[in-house]
This record gives sequence, structure tokens and C-alpha cells, in this order.
Amino acid sequence: MRALNGGDPLVEVRNVKKYFPIRKGLLQREVARVHAVDDVTFSVREGETLGLVGESGCGKSTLGRTIVRLLEPTAGHVLFQGRDISKLDRGELRPLRREMQIVFQDPYASLNPRKRVGSIIGSPLKIHGIGDKKSRQKRVQELLETVGLSPEHYNRYPHEFSGGQRQRIGVARALALQPKLVVADEPVSALDVSIQSQMLNLLDDLQTEFQLTYLFIAHDLGVVRHVSDRIAVMYLGKLVELSPAEELYQRPIMPYTEALLSAVPIPDPDLSARRERIVLEGDVPSPINPPSGCRFHPRCRYMTDICVQVEPPLVEHGKGHLAACHHPLNVDAETLERATVSRRHTPETADERAKPTDTGGESHPVPER
Ligand SMILES: Nc1ncnc2c1ncn2[C@@H]1O[C@H](COP(=O)(O)OP(=O)(O)O)[C@@H](O)[C@H]1O
Ligand code: SF4
Ligand SMILES: [Mg+2]
Repeated sequence: MRALNGGDPLVEVRNVKKYFPIRKGLLQREVARVHAVDDVTFSVREGETLGLVGESGCGKSTLGRTIVRLLEPTAGHVLFQGRDISKLDRGELRPLRREMQIVFQDPYASLNPRKRVGSIIGSPLKIHGIGDKKSRQKRVQELLETVGLSPEHYNRYPHEFSGGQRQRIGVARALALQPKLVVADEPVSALDVSIQSQMLNLLDDLQTEFQLTYLFIAHDLGVVRHVSDRIAVMYLGKLVELSPAEELYQRPIMPYTEALLSAVPIPDPDLSARRERIVLEGDVPSPINPPSGCRFHPRCRYMTDICVQVEPPLVEHGKGHLAACHHPLNVDAETLERATVSRRHTPETADERAKPTDTGGESHPVPER
């Protein structure tokens, strides 16, 4: 974790949507769409770790893949170092592939079982025509050491390694081209709890050594706490809260975040006993027909009529903390008033509205509590 709060944005996500068509019948006509990512705006600053959290199916991987342009956004823009990359074709994307890499969740599925480790880690170098066979081998052996494996592992196959070691191989492959941005998509979710912290420490060390910027995806708030500078919370395709990390744990504003937080174990037994565990009722609704208004309303214990009718905008509640809720928690009257005033200065034109702020938010209406 670097805590470079003033860093320039490396990635800017502006009003990004990613819908997947559902086709049926002989003619494969589009009958519906999965609203996997639905109008998301935020930025990732150079050198920071931005944690991205939300239940399974809320669109985290889709957003991560859209950012590194493994997927093309349905609408909106992704800027990398100020350059719009949302519409680049394959050839134009090629040099960018070096700058942005993904570490995948499942270390079993993400490595080709028929390839030797040396070939897996070296393949990005080969594809990009970097060095000759000998220099690539040397580089791969260095990478193996960097991620805490041995250069002698070069000729082994993935099945000869444990889950944690395989994930290290995945990390080495991601680092081969010296990227600036690494999207780590649930990099420890498939690992035993006992080795999760080793992997987190490795990622932290690598960030310092190679000045990496991380988008760190996880499905709960426990894992990202100690690695993130800021945390973004997603619910059913929407960004619902974005905050400096510690601030989020001290002062959750959106009820969904409050519920996620209530499930995070805390070491203090007294505090733990006093804390209410909020059980979310019902399943996550379908992203094909998301609920009206606030998408969280069918499961929210603070829900009122307005929540069903009007989508709450993402607004700043002080200290770089944004949340989308009609009845924000842990917000004093003065801060709420400031947020309400800022809505009166809501940009008028679409261009102005799309302009990203440092926090990724826009000024929007905040209805009264
Ligand atoms: N290629 C695809 N085609 C159709 N639907 C998809 C595709 N990829 C993801 N989805 C759907 O988009 C939603 C978001 O998925 P995903 O981004 O994988 O969520 P998460 O990573 O948060 O678990 C889910 O409903 C998922 O089923
Ligand atoms: S807007 Fe309403 S339904 Fe949505 S989180 Fe806030 S209180 Fe709950
Ligand atoms: Mg995922």
C-alpha cells in the first residue's frame, strides 16, 4: 500500500457500461441484456491500490476486464494515462497490453497444464518479441526468484506446484512485461487462509519494487483492508461507495457497505460482541432486470418510497468519501447540507457531467433524509 493520495490518475473510468446480450432462437435475436457494469465512473491513481469489493456477480471482473480492454465497453470511456483506449483496435491495443496485466482468481484454471512454467511465464515476452531465447530464459528465472520461487522450477509443470505457488507463477507472468497497472482479480480467494497473507505480502513488496498500481478485486471487505489505499464498493453493476480505506471501515455510508462490513471479523472480542451482524435477506436480484431506483432497495432495511422510485446519485460526503444513498448513514447534518448545496451546482451539459473528478464522482442531487 503506497497511500499516494495526491497521485495523478493512471486510469480514468468514465460512465462505463458493459452489457452482455442474451440471444435466443435460430436467428440469435437479442432478447435481453445482462447489465454487468452500468454507468461507472472513478479513477485509479498512479501508485495506489484501489480495492474493488462486492458480492459475486456484481460486475467486478467485467469492470476489471473492461479497464484492461479484454472487453470493449458498451458505452463510456476508459482513459489510460490520459489516452482514451475504449475504441482502440487490436493492433493499437498491442503496445498497451504491456502496460496492463491481470492476475486471475483461479491459479488452477489460469495456467496451461501442458506448458512448462518457463514457457508460461516467458510467453508474454515471446509474443511481444522481446529478447532472444537465452535472454528470455534468464529473465524468466529472475522473475521466478522475484516471486519467491526457484530458478530451477523453470522446467516443471503447473501440477507440480501448490495453489499458492501457482498463483506466484501467475504473478510472475503478469510482471514479465513490467506493466504499470495490475488488475488482481480475487488473487487470494482460491488460496488457503494460511497462505493468503504471504501472497498479500508478496503483492505489496512487488508494488514497492516495481512501482505498480493495483486494482485489487475481492468479494469481501476483510481481504482488502490492509492492502488498499481506497476502496470502491459495487452492487449489481453500480458503484455505490468509494472512500479512503480506513475511512470506509470507520464510517460506512451506504447500507450495503454497512452490511458487508458487519460480516468482517474483528480481532477485538468486546467490539465483536457488541457489533450487530446484518444478514442480507434474499438473493442478489438479476442484473438482466435490475430493481428500479436504488438497486439495493429490495434488501435494504432503511428503504423508503423514494428508494424505489429514484436512483440515488453518487455524492461526496467529505474526506473524499462518496456514496449513493437517499438515507446516508454516519453523515452529520452539516456534511449532508454541503452535499445538498453541491447538487445545486450540478453541471448542466453532458460533457461537464462526464468530466471525472479526482474521486470519480459527480455532483448530483441528494434528497433530504
Ligand atoms: N461473457 C458473459 N456473457 C454473459 N454474461 C456475463 C458474461 N460475463 C459475465 N456475465 C454476467 O455479468 C454479471 C457480472 O459478472 P462478473 O463481472 O463476473 O461478476 P463478479 O466478478 O463480481 O463476480 C453476472 O451476472 C455474470 O453472469
Ligand atoms: S437509497 Fe434507500 S434502498 Fe438504497 S441503500 Fe439507501 S436507504 Fe437503502
Ligand atoms: Mg469475478
